Amino acid sequence: MAHDATQLSPLSATMSHGLTGRLRVPGDKSISHRALIFGALARGKTRISGLLESEDVLNTAKAMAAFGAHIVKDDDGVWYVDGVGTGSLVEPSNVLDFGNSGTGVRLVMGLAGAHAFSTTFMGDESLSSRPMARVLDPLREMGVEVLGRSGDRLPLTIRGAEPAAPITYRVPMASAQVKSCVLLAGLNMAGTTTVIEPIKTRDHTERMLRGFGATLGESVNEAGETILTIEGLQALKAQDVTVPGDPSSAAFPIVAALITPDSNLVIDDILLNESRTGLITTLLEMGADITIENERESGGERIGNIRVRSSSLKGVTVPADRAPSMIDEYPVLSVAASFAEGETRMEGLEELRVKESDRLSAVAAGLKANGVPHEEGGDYLVVSGGANEIGGGMVTTHLDHRIAMSFLVLGLAVHKPVTVDDAAIINTSFPGFADLLGTLGASFSRG
Ligand code: S3P
Repeated sequence: MAHDATQLSPLSATMSHGLTGRLRVPGDKSISHRALIFGALARGKTRISGLLESEDVLNTAKAMAAFGAHIVKDDDGVWYVDGVGTGSLVEPSNVLDFGNSGTGVRLVMGLAGAHAFSTTFMGDESLSSRPMARVLDPLREMGVEVLGRSGDRLPLTIRGAEPAAPITYRVPMASAQVKSCVLLAGLNMAGTTTVIEPIKTRDHTERMLRGFGATLGESVNEAGETILTIEGLQALKAQDVTVPGDPSSAAFPIVAALITPDSNLVIDDILLNESRTGLITTLLEMGADITIENERESGGERIGNIRVRSSSLKGVTVPADRAPSMIDEYPVLSVAASFAEGETRMEGLEELRVKESDRLSAVAAGLKANGVPHEEGGDYLVVSGGANEIGGGMVTTHLDHRIAMSFLVLGLAVHKPVTVDDAAIINTSFPGFADLLGTLGASFSRG
């Protein structure tokens, strides 16, 4: 069910002691979207266990069904996707609603752009304000026609190119969504598509392409840029996919345990792909007591269990080149930094301005509401930790799940309750967040 922005659902977090226990967080969002997409493009029946059943991912499932895939879930929670084959999607008979999900809409635009039919995309208020030019520009180069209001915002319709022309595209910003959009378009049209990635971002699309049997060229040029080449219309073979726990969701109980005295948690089966572990690196530098247990490989990805205990943290500088590997984790890092001794300086944050909210200003506003000293720059944030009497704020979430979860985490470690104006938006990525943390000892109250 889509999130209803007119029905805000406030939630408060109050001082909690000793978060303890063992938990799993829901499946990785990036891998879940891609498992459904690749399942729909493969011939045969793909089996997906551990799929993240959040609003964002379910919207992608509905979209892939509208393109002709047959998607069902069995009584054990395993999903099956009967695919249609690359280049063989059918025209959706209705508007595709992606709700809050930038990943869903941008990846699927790549697919639709390679098919000679029309697809209309819409989303919620947050998604309708986010830039789509970053994917529409390369698609236009391929011959795709775009019909929509000015500024390349949703809602809009694209008419696939006929014939589609493969391109060579240098991704102008650090964005796995843009890279993936171009690769998925290339996969579904005849010819060779090349993507040049100056700054490496999460590589789930590349891994899954290979996992489904496609050949993907990969090299590094003299400038250190990654060059990906894909031959279109390769046949994909259905696979068994096990989705590991989402490190971006694990980030919330990790930081909650660090800042709440007497905590000791183990979070099982978390994805540890190095394009996603920047937060762990940073927290370790800050002095966090985090250890990885039972590190192993599963389905082509590194996974492990994360043990975390309450820790005294100290401020650090987080370099700009780490941003791609922790791009979704700055809000919750800012909360950890609020409890650290000294300043934490985060640089290279320009992409935060175009997330589910302007995350840089939403974080700064949340810190301000809770009396945390900080400085917001155009592309940086400095948080001064260890101030007395922080908390007590009312935080505006701006339809941003990570703002909601981050400030609820802050509320667990301060004397004055912290309230977020809407906790329902959390269902876009982490259904059951408050209940799950509640089982570990976190205290929340509604209303
Ligand atoms: C994602 C890429 C990132 C990230 C998002 C998921 C993906 O976005 O913020 O939550 O699955 O490809 P950008 O590509 O815009 O950086």
